[in-house]
Amino acid sequence: MILIKLGGSIITNKKKALSANMPAVRKIAAQLRKAGEPCMVIHGGGSFGHYWSVRYDMHTRPARYSPRGVAVVKNSMVQLNRLVLDALLDSGVLPYCLPPTDFVSGDRPVPSKVSEIPRIARAGLVPVSYGDVMWHGAGKFYILSGDRIMGMLARLLKPRLAVFVTNVDGVYSDLKTKRLIREITTERPAVEEVGMDVTGGMGRKIKEATDMSRTGTDVFFVNGRHPQRIANAINGKEFEGTLFRG
Ligand code: IPE
Repeated sequence: MILIKLGGSIITNKKKALSANMPAVRKIAAQLRKAGEPCMVIHGGGSFGHYWSVRYDMHTRPARYSPRGVAVVKNSMVQLNRLVLDALLDSGVLPYCLPPTDFVSGDRPVPSKVSEIPRIARAGLVPVSYGDVMWHGAGKFYILSGDRIMGMLARLLKPRLAVFVTNVDGVYSDLKTKRLIREITTERPAVEEVGMDVTGGMGRKIKEATDMSRTGTDVFFVNGRHPQRIANAINGKEFEGTLFRG
């Protein structure tokens, strides 16, 4: 099984509020069709969820956020999810929508629900989940990022590999020269400042990927603007990007 995170930076235009980039999703879907093994897709919030989370000052920390903010962020993610689902279906990938509320309770994955995911994937569907605003209990909500979902699922499902698709080539050792780190060993990655991102941007992704690789999953970072790189990474071919070896 393969877990694929489609970052908000690739499926939306991050500089423009509520602007989706569905041609990018269609091109990536064409690569997923070639995967030849069960896949799950998790997508981020980009200029939908993050835009509203910033406006309503909502974060990953559980708190009593504005109820209006919760409603607006949630709606924006359902809206983006719907666009992603349609783009996948149009491209010949059969999505099976699984909002994180279907397998996460409070801030923990529900193992009996998570264990259904590979079965759904083996039945020929592609489970699709996404970063969302979640009920935490006791009047509190929190933002659950797609990156966290990747980490949670990897721990329980032990996928063969995981891919983080973003709008950059991978992890850089230097942001100015954009020198790519091909494989994470001892070199320290450089991390950009985060603007419209309430879940921690590249720094958070790197932490999640490091943890995932420590539990045995090979984790790839690739640029979704070159979708062929996704297929290359999945199929063990020479690829442009960064590998966190499991
Ligand atoms: C964010 O998910 C979800 C919300 C803000 C509601 P992610 O943190 O995974 O989104 P991207 O990929 O960074 O845009």
